Amino acid sequence: MAPVLAIESSCDDTACAILAPDGTILAETVLSQSGHIPFGGVVPEIAARAHLAALPGLVRQTLDAAGLPARALGAVAASTGPGLIGGLIVGAGVGKGLAVALDRPFIAVNHIEAHALTARLPGLVPGGAPFPYLLLLVSGGHCQCIAVEGVGHYRKLGGTIDDAAGEAFDKVAKMLGLGWPGGPAVEALAREGDPAPWPLPRPLHGRPGCDFSFSGLKTAVAQKLAPYDNGALPRPVAAGIAASFQDAVADIVGDRVAHALDMMPDATLLVAAGGVAANSALRARLDALAQARGLPFAAPPLRLCTDNAVMVGWAAIETMRARLALGLPPVDDLDLLPRPRWPLDQMAARFDATAA
Ligand code: KG4
Ligand code: ZN
Repeated sequence: MAPVLAIESSCDDTACAILAPDGTILAETVLSQSGHIPFGGVVPEIAARAHLAALPGLVRQTLDAAGLPARALGAVAASTGPGLIGGLIVGAGVGKGLAVALDRPFIAVNHIEAHALTARLPGLVPGGAPFPYLLLLVSGGHCQCIAVEGVGHYRKLGGTIDDAAGEAFDKVAKMLGLGWPGGPAVEALAREGDPAPWPLPRPLHGRPGCDFSFSGLKTAVAQKLAPYDNGALPRPVAAGIAASFQDAVADIVGDRVAHALDMMPDATLLVAAGGVAANSALRARLDALAQARGLPFAAPPLRLCTDNAVMVGWAAIETMRARLALGLPPVDDLDLLPRPRWPLDQMAARFDATAA
């Protein structure tokens, strides 16, 4: 196998990476889009155009950084779903064009699968990340617990019934007059706040299963802020509410993950991924929870936790290897169209020898 070039453009980060077949990162680049800041959230049309403007140059830059000519590549991979369709069309289109020009296979990567397999990148988790493990994916767009049982074999144990955790952070940040993305700003403000005077609810806490809900929490924050609607928000109030909100999210997520571990007694490891996994209060909660269960806890470094192309390349390598091990022909997804929704349970079909 030769190096794999991977593209990520499913949301608001344009990223490219080149990985050696053993997972060694030869080059990685990421461009975060700033055009969304005035709108306080990702605007799909702006995202797609920014991907289109950035991606060809980023591919060139990544090849240069790896010191490789394009012809040295063995395959090209791109996030092909789920995500914002405009960005996916750009990323998969560029990836397929490159694959055709080089006469190499194109691997369509499921973005969630890429998050799920990141922990297996060599060197990331001490002792490796053997299957099965529990993945908590908490980002601006996703909030779910997934049993990762093997390459292509995933079971969604539960997910949000309304907002994603990152979305809740972003909306609360907006209410508190903080910028976007809101998570880091809320975390910083929470450090100086006293949560005690601002009790907030914990939706679904203690309920069976591991679904999440954040919209009631968001509404409760809005109610606490209502008396300040017409005046400036005193900083101690904003900080107290930020601290209380963050505590509530950590409690909710901790409780839901505890239930997910109950649903997956054979889990050998707890992994957290997605931008919200950067939150130190949440990390501490998950770490304590894993320890209480005698399990290791791993959260990839932030640049691999948030959207990136390294994970896309790694998922492609895992897919190629797993098919090879089964004696199946190399995967080539030139005909697979970008899809805004792509449930993980559809990935197992790739390893079904009778369907190949
Ligand atoms: O994974 P990500 O970079 O992009 C996707 O949504 O796919 O996640 C971004 C989300 C945003 O909602 C952001 O507010 C949240 O992650 N986030 C945080 C923190 N850093 C980023 N939330 C809480 N605490 C943080 N430190
Ligand atoms: Zn993501």
